[in-house]
Amino acid sequence: MRLATRLEKLQSNVFSLMDEAKARARKAGLDVVDLSLGSSDLSPPAHALERIRESILDPTSHGYLLFQGTRSFREACAEWYERRYGLALDPETEILPLIGSQEGTAHIPLAVLDPGDVALLMDPGYPSHEGGVHLAGGQIYPLALRPETGYLPQLEQIPEEVLERSRLLVLSYPHNPTAATATLGYFERAVAFCRAHDIVLVHDFPYADFHLSGEQPPSILQADRRREVAIEFFSLSKSFHMGGFRIGFALGSRDLVAALRQVKASIDFNQYRGILDGAEAALRGPQDYVREAVSIFRSRRDRAVAALAEAGWQVPSPEATMYLWAALPECWQGSSVEFCIRLVEQTGVALAPGSGFGSSGEGYVRFALVRSEDVLERAIAQIAGFLQRS
Ligand SMILES: Cc1ncc(COP(=O)(O)O)c(C=O)c1O
Repeated sequence: MRLATRLEKLQSNVFSLMDEAKARARKAGLDVVDLSLGSSDLSPPAHALERIRESILDPTSHGYLLFQGTRSFREACAEWYERRYGLALDPETEILPLIGSQEGTAHIPLAVLDPGDVALLMDPGYPSHEGGVHLAGGQIYPLALRPETGYLPQLEQIPEEVLERSRLLVLSYPHNPTAATATLGYFERAVAFCRAHDIVLVHDFPYADFHLSGEQPPSILQADRRREVAIEFFSLSKSFHMGGFRIGFALGSRDLVAALRQVKASIDFNQYRGILDGAEAALRGPQDYVREAVSIFRSRRDRAVAALAEAGWQVPSPEATMYLWAALPECWQGSSVEFCIRLVEQTGVALAPGSGFGSSGEGYVRFALVRSEDVLERAIAQIAGFLQRS
């Protein structure tokens, strides 16, 4: 069968190689500890689940919702945002529910790019950023992220001829996979840069609550208070551990919200109302739940970094996210994919190869701290044995 050539660009060989390696490890009888995916093992808040249960039993919740979701969900998003950042947004025109922030990042290029336009993307970065640009027929100019510059794109180094064709910049801090953070000052410079070059600025912000030792991470709209160039995507997957429910929301420029709504109107009928109701309960409910869950990830980070150091692998302790971004141990001569495949085949511990997030991720692996401290410690003991044998 002849299929569209754009599919070729959507293949991620790295992650399918890892899936095959995990399957081989399971087949060989190993107990696979999967630290390769950022899928939280904690439960959503009980009050959110209760709201979803009530909705399921309410037959008026079973129909199509159409494009904007419910007014009360959008109001809950606006109130949540205002409580945190002190900025009031209009629930009618500046907020849009999403089927997860991934959906927003994958669809926004369809609203912004014409075929051949350039998107400026972080490398390494989250794979849906790239996927969306390919679907829209855009071209990617990778912004290599380096530890010596805090894993922040050096916008002033982008060549003029690239800038002339650039229509979109995607940022995402706290950052997956490097766990780096950005300051409000950096966002202010990015907003000024986008204004100067007429570029749309997307900020993917699923780790808004995952500040482990630092301060609350800034929102891009604090730097674009008039909402002229920016749109920001939040997710309930991380803060409220609702990844499987697929719910997030976009906030920002009226024009961008309307454009994204227009794209989505051709694609989906929005999320099920029960899930919007549950998400609303999570946003409006007590936020101690969020702080407690984040403190679990803080302890996991501390224990994992200490155990890795004992095993002779020095890994920086990140201020944010649920990840560790680790340079491959010096004893290892091969690629990050070879490391992860060999590791899972020999020990059952699955990590994400850095090259899966872009070519500048080569030389690194990402740990997702999505298991209990004891499980992480046992997995790291297995890694220590593997390193000794390598
Ligand atoms: C940067 C980034 N964006 C988006 C997502 C997906 O979020 P959602 O579950 O809301 O689609 C993730 C998940 O790991 C992520 O790290």
